[in-house]
Amino acid sequence: MKKTLVLVAALMITGTMAYAASADKGKALFESPRFGGGTTGKSCNSCHAGGEGLGSDLFTRKQFTIMKMQKKTLAEVVNVCIENPLGGKAIDPNGQEMQDLMAYMKTLVTKPGKKKTPKKIEGC
Ligand code: HEC
Repeated sequence: MKKTLVLVAALMITGTMAYAASADKGKALFESPRFGGGTTGKSCNSCHAGGEGLGSDLFTRKQFTIMKMQKKTLAEVVNVCIENPLGGKAIDPNGQEMQDLMAYMKTLVTKPGKKKTPKKIEGC
């Protein structure tokens, strides 16, 4: 009985670990031109290195405008960027990769001195 409990607890801990967002994994995706099956040779980092072009209110905003389209969630914005500048395919908005990517982007936009309205960048 005790052994079973220990086993269940161990499984729960490893399960949680597998699903926790990883900023390190997100960084690797952000810098990979193959992210989302990208075909243009560009990565998110090509245009957004160090958080360039990303507003400090990215995670609290309720409405986004991207390529003149209105989007309600950041995941949709990310998928517009995967499909357009990266030439890839949209990823699962609730999947592990999206969560890892978000965790990394959070480290970029919460840096001290980051502005709400970023300097305009080109390309999307
Ligand atoms: C070729 C350059 C380029 C690449 C590559 C690119 N973006 Fe963008 N991104 C832009 C531009 C330009 C904008 C602003 C678009 C607009 O205002 O319509 C933008 C906007 C955004 C925004 C909204 C920022 C804000 O504060 O409103 C997010 C989030 C974003 N990009 C994430 C990504 C992610 C994630 C990737 C990789 C999958 C990526 N971008 C790849 C150029 C790029």
